Amino acid sequence: MDDAPIGIFDSGVGGLTVARAISAQLPRESMLYIGDTARSPYGPQPIADVRRYSLEILDSLVDQGVKMLVIACNTASAAMLRDARERYDVPVVEVIGPAVRTAMSTTRNGRIGVIGTAGTIGSGAYQDMLEVNARLTVFAQACPRFVEFVEAGVTDSPEVLAVAEEYLAPLRHSDVDTLVLGCTHYPFLEGAISYVMGPDVSLVSSDTETAKDVYRQLVGRDLLAGPDAVARHVYEATGDSAAEFLRLAHRLMGREVSEVQLVQTGAIDLPARPTASAPSPTPARGRLT
Ligand code: DGL
Repeated sequence: MDDAPIGIFDSGVGGLTVARAISAQLPRESMLYIGDTARSPYGPQPIADVRRYSLEILDSLVDQGVKMLVIACNTASAAMLRDARERYDVPVVEVIGPAVRTAMSTTRNGRIGVIGTAGTIGSGAYQDMLEVNARLTVFAQACPRFVEFVEAGVTDSPEVLAVAEEYLAPLRHSDVDTLVLGCTHYPFLEGAISYVMGPDVSLVSSDTETAKDVYRQLVGRDLLAGPDAVARHVYEATGDSAAEFLRLAHRLMGREVSEVQLVQTGAIDLPARPTASAPSPTPARGRLT
């Protein structure tokens, strides 16, 4: 048993989809979430930079005493998974492996589509893992504007649909029966993606699959929170506006996120600012110790 929080991170709000799925399956687990909003989006940036940012954030989570690390970002997972497993004593869960396993067991015709950021698709991480199985053919497509829409809180506009039609057209014509949403921001656009791909294409998303992996690891290593544990969820952002992160989190997730604190990682200097609190009936949450 271990009541310490699970550390989760993403470049921005996308990892909240993973946090939500973990919380749904493991409601007694505390979580410490960091969105690296100062340096997002990760997708278009050189992989070496993404790797450095990610290790800084993970160091910060470990320094704050987490019992497990969840890299809730495909771009970061593609950039530094192996390093992370070597660098930390706590278990590290990432988002690509769980989605790959599910896609493999979901497809019936062996034709799998993968969408993600330019960084994720360019790294070939999904393609390499899926094509280990010679029966599978993979069609990969970068969808860079999807993250822009989500970070702007736009998920249902005609423009989203038009861009989805454009990005997904090659995949529709490739006769894929399974589509991996290889970016943790994309579940927020599932309506548009599913509409464009049609009801016969199964969507596999990293959030629920990763939550199952977290569950498995916690049980397997006897790290579950104790029976009397009360979950505390703490959200931190590296950007210069906690209020902006909070506003977006409310737009996308409802009132689940009640407070955001700004934090500093090695590479950036943040001005000292007061914590932004949302008017909410739930008590303010503090940093976990
Ligand atoms: N949510 C992240 C992912 O899963 C990336 C978004 C970004 O480009 O920062 O890849």
